[in-house]
Amino acid sequence: MCGIVGYVGSKTAVDILIEGLTSLEYRGYDSSGVALNIEGKVQLFKAQGKLQNLRNIVQNNYDEISKSTIGIGHIRWATHGVPSVENAHPHTCNCGKVAIVHNGIIENFKELKAKLEANGCTFRSQTDTETIAHLVATKYGETKDLTEAVRLATQEIEGAYAIAVIHQDVKNTIVATRRNAPLVVGFGEDENFVASDIPALIKYTKKAMYLDDNQIVTITPNSVKLIDIDNNPKELKIETLPWEPVALSKMGYKHFMLKEIHEQPDIVRNVLAGKLRTMDAPIELNEVTLNKEKLKNLSRIQIVACGTSLHAAMVGKYLIEDFCGIPVDVEPSSEYIYRKTITNENTLVIGVSQSGETADTITAVRQAKKKGSHILIVTNRPDSTMAREADSLIPVNAGIEVSVAATKSYMAQLISFYLLAIYMAEVKGSMPKDEVSKLKHELILLPQKIDNILTAKGDIQKCARKFANSKDFIFIARGVNYATALEGALKLKEISYINATGYTAGELKHGPIAMLDESMPVLSVLMKGKVYDKILSNAEEAKARNARMIALTNSEDFKLDELFENIIRVPDVMEILSPALAIVPLQLLAYYIAEFLGKDVDQPRNLAKSVTVE
Ligand code: AGP
Repeated sequence: MCGIVGYVGSKTAVDILIEGLTSLEYRGYDSSGVALNIEGKVQLFKAQGKLQNLRNIVQNNYDEISKSTIGIGHIRWATHGVPSVENAHPHTCNCGKVAIVHNGIIENFKELKAKLEANGCTFRSQTDTETIAHLVATKYGETKDLTEAVRLATQEIEGAYAIAVIHQDVKNTIVATRRNAPLVVGFGEDENFVASDIPALIKYTKKAMYLDDNQIVTITPNSVKLIDIDNNPKELKIETLPWEPVALSKMGYKHFMLKEIHEQPDIVRNVLAGKLRTMDAPIELNEVTLNKEKLKNLSRIQIVACGTSLHAAMVGKYLIEDFCGIPVDVEPSSEYIYRKTITNENTLVIGVSQSGETADTITAVRQAKKKGSHILIVTNRPDSTMAREADSLIPVNAGIEVSVAATKSYMAQLISFYLLAIYMAEVKGSMPKDEVSKLKHELILLPQKIDNILTAKGDIQKCARKFANSKDFIFIARGVNYATALEGALKLKEISYINATGYTAGELKHGPIAMLDESMPVLSVLMKGKVYDKILSNAEEAKARNARMIALTNSEDFKLDELFENIIRVPDVMEILSPALAIVPLQLLAYYIAEFLGKDVDQPRNLAKSVTVE
């Protein structure tokens, strides 16, 4: 989490830093700050809360601040120490000459802090980051060389970090380095940049270089020098980015989340384009480089992911097992990495991540790679750290997702899993051709059906108002839609802070039913198919305990009117494809409840879009 940005050149640094931080707000937003060298003196400006608070401080001091042409900035998601001005970055040393911004976690900060305090350093914050500021200042005192000071400091630091440092006595210079946290350098004309992510610099340059772990870069307006941790010079590998400046516009929608929900029909079309050509032609998935013979003989697949991506992975498991007969395990990355896993060169390991920067999933795929597994990454960010670990890379092409609550990226992940599972089934010959054709036909119809749901969103809005004051919410489903229940509950709790839980409908009577009474809404994901009748029975059991019953269904059965107080209808769809339709009303329901309650929909409390710490 946390976003960092640095600029050195001849323009007003603070404008570029604030603009960069605005585009990095998805990485955290509990406090922010900049450090600028103003007429030979390093000065800090920091604010608790949203970036707007920092903008206000900058505005009030703009005449003075705008003189600076070098600076570093930070937007924070707290790990060590509460969100506050004193814990906001940049941090500095005793003499105030060093300023540092950091993304990551310093694992040995307590030991380092004790050592530094014993040597006379005074700490002003509760952060782990401040240790780096003191450490760099100490090393600078010994070497009088900022790059060397950073290099020596990183040899003592354990953990994950991307840092950028300035020093009052080292004019027009930023030194930056990384280990297990993203960092990119942007090359301009008489100006250079450093940032956690491309959107912070794409407006100014398309020439960029991703740093590798343990590389240290020294940036001035006219030079960029790269070394490794052993002080060996490294070649600059400059890429031309295929990006266009990102227009972060809500396009008239009240929130990014609502806009992103509405983008889903087009995203489905995009994901299918070029891969699903006709009903009879095989799916083209050139991104999968795993040899077809190996793919046919795969004995096992493991999928690792977190949060919403984990729910997409659960649908993926269902599809691959159903279409291809290959056993698939799905596991939260944070669990996978801390146990003995039966992963080897015969296992295909799939990492799923919107951001491609989720620390747990990166660690999980790296562990699997070491064991010789083929690594397939499904991500919305083909330029991400995770993507660079991939043997096969499926970009899901959902476009930049701004809202912290994932919606359109989930849809793109689901559709990518449909394509992958059908592709694998075609390679293996594990599914009758007419069934494959039917699936393909139904996939092509999905965007129109999602459009129909979006057109009828008024009904969902009414339902949201009715249930907005509930303290708790239960979602039940079975089979392929169990993940839909989990994802619906996750969306609701993320943005409305209502305690929402998803259960397999069959589990309800094994405990959760104890919570049911007239105040508890129970939403049943009731799609026609194998498990329809079973869910209906489970819904009856809930009704018998006076729960407030809501159905999300594609059934026209008039008997449902007796059982359910509210019915949200979706167009008819094959059961196996229904997760891609059923999730849309649940996204809208969560959105309208949060909006009705006046919550900060796009930037919910305590969350960050990209979780780059384990
Ligand atoms: C989704 O709404 C959440 N913000 C969160 O669960 C997210 O899906 C999770 O942190 C994983 O992120 P990733 O897909 O970028 O790896």
